[in-house]
Amino acid sequence: MKPVEIKDGIFWIGAVDWNRRDFHGYSKSHMGTTYNNFLIKDEKVALIDTVAEEFWGTLQCNLANVLDAGQKIDYFVINHLEPDHAGCLALAYEKYKPSKIYTSPMGEKSMKAHFHYKDWPVEVVPTGTEISLGSRRLQFIETRMLHWPDAMLTYCPEDKIVFTNDAFGQNWATSERWADEMDRSTLEQLMKAYYANIVLPYSPVVLKTLKALKEMNLEIDTICPDHGLMFRGDDVQWVFDKYVEFAEQKPLNKAVIVYDTMWHSTEKMALAVASGLASEGVSVRVMSMKSNHHSEVMTEIYDAAAVIVGSPTHNNTILPSMAGVLNYIKGLRPQNKIGAAIGSFGWSGECVKILNKALEDIGMDLIDPVKVKHVPTHETMSQCYEQGKAIAAAIKAKLA
Ligand code: FEO
Repeated sequence: MKPVEIKDGIFWIGAVDWNRRDFHGYSKSHMGTTYNNFLIKDEKVALIDTVAEEFWGTLQCNLANVLDAGQKIDYFVINHLEPDHAGCLALAYEKYKPSKIYTSPMGEKSMKAHFHYKDWPVEVVPTGTEISLGSRRLQFIETRMLHWPDAMLTYCPEDKIVFTNDAFGQNWATSERWADEMDRSTLEQLMKAYYANIVLPYSPVVLKTLKALKEMNLEIDTICPDHGLMFRGDDVQWVFDKYVEFAEQKPLNKAVIVYDTMWHSTEKMALAVASGLASEGVSVRVMSMKSNHHSEVMTEIYDAAAVIVGSPTHNNTILPSMAGVLNYIKGLRPQNKIGAAIGSFGWSGECVKILNKALEDIGMDLIDPVKVKHVPTHETMSQCYEQGKAIAAAIKAKLA
């Protein structure tokens, strides 16, 4: 995609990764992604972030399109060192030789550890630092752990524009650049998936950072994240509010049943629990680990009030897919959940004990588990159905 002038002298020069499905090696991105980066042309020229290394050719083309003949890039601003944004930093430094590379205090440490450079002109810009490009200034605000320690925002007061790096991003490869050009419910779903799988553990930092930004009274009419669509006009407040909503993690009247199964006994139990939940008006998602990626599961769990996990006992433990997804969920630290376990067994029957421990470790409030020997009977299926009803009652109490 060609560069887009988003404000007078400020250009989107990113790359669209249409067919990216494996995001960062652990999460699905069903609709691709973009690596947004920007060039500001003033008396001094500043490059804000780069793109993933495989798009080095795209970045060079875009810069050639936007720079005047013989014009050099004076400054690099590196808001975040993860390779989808700083992947071209070494190549770009060698080619364009800026006189300064600005980054946060933690960014400098991360830059050294990534690039092992000796003599780059790196200048650390803690929160409150301001540089001049001529007719406009750039101000830097550290956003540690949103979502890496090095992360910072770059704000230009003259243009009321903020470059937020990963914050407010979504994985959506599009030819459009602005959120107001696209379907809103798809946008919300993709923002939710991104938040649930990348930003969720840092929700307290999100709330603190948004509060601090509000107190700074920055005038902002444009937000430019480094992934997906950008926000302008009324969408600025919309996306701030959306992030507060995401970070607060208020659960919906919704339950997610995540399970794996060998000979379908645990699956039958899962369906009976789903039926009990639905009979009480709870919106249910039933997700087999044979058909769903752990990041899809996490996106559904993120706003659910209850999580039911199921596995048969296998070799005195649970199935590996369930161990994996529980480990993934734990790392993302979801809050405000009710948990319950189900599982079939042949002889030793440790499954529900192990599942319960995992749910407890995540911090969920537990409902009594149901365990079935070999194949469920009418009676044990009824127990599962009743467990679903009990979970629905707990959800009702939680949301009251
Ligand atoms: Fe989009 Fe933290 O990288």
